[in-house]
Amino acid sequence: MPLQSLSRTKLIFPEEFMTKKEPKRNKKPWPTKDAMTQIYEKNLWGGNDSEFYSGQGSHQPEIVNPYVKVVSAFLNSFETPLTVCDLGCGDFNVGNQLVKFAKKYIAVDIVPDLIARNQKMFIAENLEFHCLDIAKDDLPSADCVILRQVLQHLSNAEVQYILKKLSNYKYIILTEHIPEGDFTPNIDIISGQGIRLKKKSGLDVLVPPFNFKITKEKQLLTTKDDWKGVILTRFFEL
Ligand SMILES: C[S@@+](CC[C@H](N)C(=O)[O-])C[C@H]1O[C@@H](n2cnc3c(N)ncnc32)[C@H](O)[C@@H]1O
Repeated sequence: MPLQSLSRTKLIFPEEFMTKKEPKRNKKPWPTKDAMTQIYEKNLWGGNDSEFYSGQGSHQPEIVNPYVKVVSAFLNSFETPLTVCDLGCGDFNVGNQLVKFAKKYIAVDIVPDLIARNQKMFIAENLEFHCLDIAKDDLPSADCVILRQVLQHLSNAEVQYILKKLSNYKYIILTEHIPEGDFTPNIDIISGQGIRLKKKSGLDVLVPPFNFKITKEKQLLTTKDDWKGVILTRFFEL
């Protein structure tokens, strides 16, 4: 089923249930840039036709406010403010609330029109936007990486490419939507609108096949949703 035909189905939330049909075995994945661009063009994560909307997980106050509180407290705990790189910044409703806690805030997304819109809408001396594919392109240098509900949409191969580049950073704040309770981690998906929750799986970069190496880990926040899922934010020191 071509992805375009999904555009007729406009659903509201949660984004992980707004998935296209299970891919046929011989289905070729769309390039991630095209898939993400279409999500915003067709408002597949919700929002009005005229707006860029990254999903209710980026807007619902019960989800966003505790996240901003805990991450801003972390950023504020440094005497010398950190340079932050927000990979997959989306519509920037969340990142926008963190800019003032960083020395420099570099926000990156794969969708060109979204980055152009963010550049017009969010202006601060310490803020810059870049349109990059974080799986393929070189990433800006920074002290701390924020990856919020991005890897959950990507195939294991793309996650692996991204993780290889993260070893250049000191701190990572990673947020993933995962099933509540026990689950089989890292079942592969095609990159796009849906996430592993539909397969009763979720991403855990510390276990196979990724085995991402860190020196310290702390669970910063868990927020339950109404669909037997949990949005988990972890802090890693490399
Ligand atoms: C669900 S949204 C989350 C947005 C934001 N992090 C937040 O929490 O509000 C996921 C974002 O990741 C971006 N993204 C997905 N794959 C990407 C890639 N390979 N490179 C850069 N951005 C990507 C999408 O375009 C989308 O804006």
